[in-house]
Amino acid sequence: MKENFFERVEKAVDAIRLVSSCQPKTGLVLGSGLSSILHTIDGVDIPYSEIDGMHVGKISGHAGVMRIHDDLCVFAGRTHFYEGTDEDDIVLTIAIMKSLGVKQVILTNAAGAVNRGYVPGDIIMLKDHINYMGYNPLKGANDDNYGPRFPDVSDAYDRRLRMKIKAGILEKLGYELQEGVYMAFNGPSYETPAEIRMAGILGADLVGMSTVPEVIVANYLDLNVVGFSCVTNMAAGILDKPLSHAEVIKTGKEVEVKLCAILLTTIDFLQDMR
Ligand code: HPA
Repeated sequence: MKENFFERVEKAVDAIRLVSSCQPKTGLVLGSGLSSILHTIDGVDIPYSEIDGMHVGKISGHAGVMRIHDDLCVFAGRTHFYEGTDEDDIVLTIAIMKSLGVKQVILTNAAGAVNRGYVPGDIIMLKDHINYMGYNPLKGANDDNYGPRFPDVSDAYDRRLRMKIKAGILEKLGYELQEGVYMAFNGPSYETPAEIRMAGILGADLVGMSTVPEVIVANYLDLNVVGFSCVTNMAAGILDKPLSHAEVIKTGKEVEVKLCAILLTTIDFLQDMR
């Protein structure tokens, strides 16, 4: 993170405060094509273009709006490394949420399945990750006021929380969530079949192009993290067919009802827990 990172965060929060004085405790980041939960949550919308310093992306399937409702804030759309913007843009949302008072973040993404036991349409709870992006968002001078120089990420996706949420979702929705390890590539090209074989050997269940920098910064800022991948396709080389962004968006839309139910249950659970 650059030295001006937290000044950028303050400016963005000032812009949000002009519109809302809410004190959200739970934050949600919605990945590609996964914004349909917005239909079930009302609140105040702030387009990213009105938040100082927020990068406004152009990827189809990413809404580019923040919604605040009572103690929940939702970022529909995120910045990716492959967009070629400043690396700090990718994690700004996380630091904004921390500054707004958020305690727990739920991160969602679309992902390819390396694990052959998964099928497109599955929602997988993240239990760990492999950072294959070749950089760490915390590189640069550290300000100990915000977090430690060498943060512990051995329980990056809070194990206790995972167990409780899984039990709650099983009880309420009758849906048994599987857990998996997410491996982040930079993109924007999808992986090759050889890279996917490598990912499997290294212990990945899922591959995608996001989330990991946000999880690292969330842990640094002492936020609890819950992560969900929506399996939109089998990863490259597993099936004898090419990968496409259109398929990713289409599958995301097909599972929106299930994803919404899981997210709403998780949000309720986190809110009750406090
Ligand atoms: N690879 C990387 N990112 C993705 C994929 C994939 O197969 N599917 C959705 N996002």
